[in-house]
Amino acid sequence: MIFVTKPYLPDEEKFNHYVSQIFRSERLTNNGELLLELERRLASYLGVENILLVSNGTLALSVAYKLLGLQGEVITTPFSFVATTSSLVWEDLKPVFTDIDEETLNINPDEIERNITDSTTAIVPVHVFGNGCDINEVEAIAKEYNLKVVYDAAHAFGVRYKNQSILNFGDISILSFHATKLFHTIEGGALIIKDRDLYVKARKMIDFGIDGPDRVRYLGINAKMNEFQAAMGLCVLDDIEKINEKREKLFRAYEAAFQFDPLVKLQKQNLNCSNNFSYFPIILEDEQSLLLVREQLSLKGIIPRRYFHPSLDRLDYVESRFMPVSNSVSSRILCLPLYDSLDINDQRRIIQTVKEALVK
Ligand SMILES: Cc1ncc(COP(=O)(O)O)c(C=O)c1O
Repeated sequence: MIFVTKPYLPDEEKFNHYVSQIFRSERLTNNGELLLELERRLASYLGVENILLVSNGTLALSVAYKLLGLQGEVITTPFSFVATTSSLVWEDLKPVFTDIDEETLNINPDEIERNITDSTTAIVPVHVFGNGCDINEVEAIAKEYNLKVVYDAAHAFGVRYKNQSILNFGDISILSFHATKLFHTIEGGALIIKDRDLYVKARKMIDFGIDGPDRVRYLGINAKMNEFQAAMGLCVLDDIEKINEKREKLFRAYEAAFQFDPLVKLQKQNLNCSNNFSYFPIILEDEQSLLLVREQLSLKGIIPRRYFHPSLDRLDYVESRFMPVSNSVSSRILCLPLYDSLDINDQRRIIQTVKEALVK
């Protein structure tokens, strides 16, 4: 079977070496040596300061909202993984959806302003599939209305925006290091926090709010990354250039096959932004075509994913208006398998099957 993605498994011996180190140190979590080393190396690799590693990307979002003291309404996109919205609801915030741009698949900045009310405290856009959203516009609106910005950059590991890390924008950006991501720590995530004082506070918040022996200073939660997760991250980070090269080759081969195909539309890339080749979504003419393509692929043991489906304005637990563009895209979009070890002959089979299904 070929799935949409496959976790990267580094050299087993190297991982075991780190595991032995953990056993010898007898420190399994709570700011261990490996976690601090991974934080240092990621800060340097990504070109960021104030990076805080946590147990997953969803908690990174929750912590970000708490840290900024968000209340009331938050403007966000309906076209994302469910965690972008569920984390808001979990924190008693009201997601106010703003529809997406049909080409970039990111929140449409022209629609944001009309959704701002007296209760709005923040904007939470997503860099969908690693493609940077319109940061200039989002930041200008946030400044004008005095709103906080949290970028859900779960897909944007390593992405550069105007020659610096895309994670340096907004009050906070978050990453996911889930096993299926380009860079992973099995489960994991990170916050990149602009303000140094908030960063220092966040370090305590993810450790129950504890600030030294016998002192609990803040309302906190347990969102710490452990040493085994950090060990995996260190191993994967060693191989990141090799992973990127392979993904780029596969991405380019898909792109060459589909960019002039009249039956397939591709995500329009933000030209201020580098591509991390993390996903290859194809947008088809209608849902019927999508179901046909999916059926033909699955007959050959190839399992693409409907990322993202359903559109989040359809969730039972949100009160929202219908988002026409997001619903339309969501009914027609399919992510094709893309991971470093995907065999190029298998990729050819995937391309051929999609093309044959579409002309049927
Ligand atoms: C856009 C987006 N936000 C948030 C998350 C949540 O991250 P995690 O799975 O690490 O909790 C994901 C996970 O896939 C995601 O794709």
